[in-house]
Amino acid sequence: MPKQSMSRRRFLQSTGAAAIWLPTSVRGYSSSEMQALFVDGVMQQDVSKWELDTPALCVDIDLLESNIATMQSTTAANGIASRPHAKTHKTPIIAQMQLDSGSVGICTAKVSEAEAMFQHGIEQILMTTTNVTATKIRRAMNLRESCSGFIQATDSPENARLLSAAAVAKGLVADVVIDVDPGGHRTGITPGQPALRLAQLVDSLPGLRLRGLLCYDGGSQHVKGFAARKQQTLERLMGATETYDLFQGSGLSTEIFSGGGTGTYNIDHDTRGLTDIQVGSYVFMDAQYIDIGGESNAEAYTDFQPSLTIMTTVLNAQYQGRATTDAGAKACTINRPWPVVKGESGMSYTSGSDEFGSLVYEAGASRTYKVGDKLELIVSHCDPVVNLYNQMYAIRNDRVEAIWQIAARGMSA
Ligand SMILES: Cc1ncc(COP(=O)(O)O)c(C=O)c1O
Repeated sequence: MPKQSMSRRRFLQSTGAAAIWLPTSVRGYSSSEMQALFVDGVMQQDVSKWELDTPALCVDIDLLESNIATMQSTTAANGIASRPHAKTHKTPIIAQMQLDSGSVGICTAKVSEAEAMFQHGIEQILMTTTNVTATKIRRAMNLRESCSGFIQATDSPENARLLSAAAVAKGLVADVVIDVDPGGHRTGITPGQPALRLAQLVDSLPGLRLRGLLCYDGGSQHVKGFAARKQQTLERLMGATETYDLFQGSGLSTEIFSGGGTGTYNIDHDTRGLTDIQVGSYVFMDAQYIDIGGESNAEAYTDFQPSLTIMTTVLNAQYQGRATTDAGAKACTINRPWPVVKGESGMSYTSGSDEFGSLVYEAGASRTYKVGDKLELIVSHCDPVVNLYNQMYAIRNDRVEAIWQIAARGMSA
């Protein structure tokens, strides 16, 4: 979509056709029925996303591909690479699409996510969280033994020594990057001299190979307004650039200087030394990101399209002004802002109840619903929503084209 100015409301309305009414006699194809319709991976029948049993997680392939292409062309034009974060989609097929488009690797948040990705053929993996327990370190080294492209983060001398000892015990030299704190104090070592001393230690340890640094500034990604976001993230990454200079001045590897995310994807290249961005949400987008506004459209973040949706069915419509659906917290999470009804206006959705969603009509609502009707929701926050489902339906032109297993779903350890 062109980055023209468009209000959030108009953007959301334009993101798809209005929900169509389906008679309640139309069957809802269950997950196992849908699986059975695929023979050798080829769908044997036309099934509309409106015919799926609900709640159902869907991804629009055209929008997903367009998001991946936009990211790739932007990073290429800006002289950096992308190393997309698989914590968002947890789906090897999507990781492979990102790699096929030119990404230099993927990131994972957890060692279990990394294992799942590797088991599905993904070999260039940067784990952005530090492994601190003996269990996690053992798993990380086991993975490194078979996956030469596995790199992990460290942010303390104690941890670096533990990693090195575990690698030596396995007869390995494990690849690490130094995680540098952008100021949020969540993870990462203090930039400057503390980070330099850690990098020098890593460089001297027999079981480790230093590959560079990472600095992810989560606190800047959702800052509203492009100018404010740009100013904050560039300021907060100055410490990482200072650290990069210290590494370079000491002859240490800066082959990787990874950071950034969806909110700053067109800002991060102004951080000197940065090699790649760990963008996650851009593949799906969500209501949280739409709210932040973009460079050319202050009203809504329209650089990427909302490709991830939840299909839900109306269960009760007896009272005027509202309806109840089958997608509550267990299908949508309770993140805010709440999910948005795609292609409609004048209604608000909440998913606070475990199994039920509430739809409330405002004055001038574009339509009302009957029991059995289906509607489509743009998700609130994509990462935790994906983690609620075993599979997503891959949709093209409203038809189910494939079923993608969310192989790292639930891999939170
Ligand atoms: C370390 C790290 N890198 C990258 C990302 C991706 O961020 P986004 O989804 O905003 O692109 C996250 C998200 O939380 C993260 O924790």
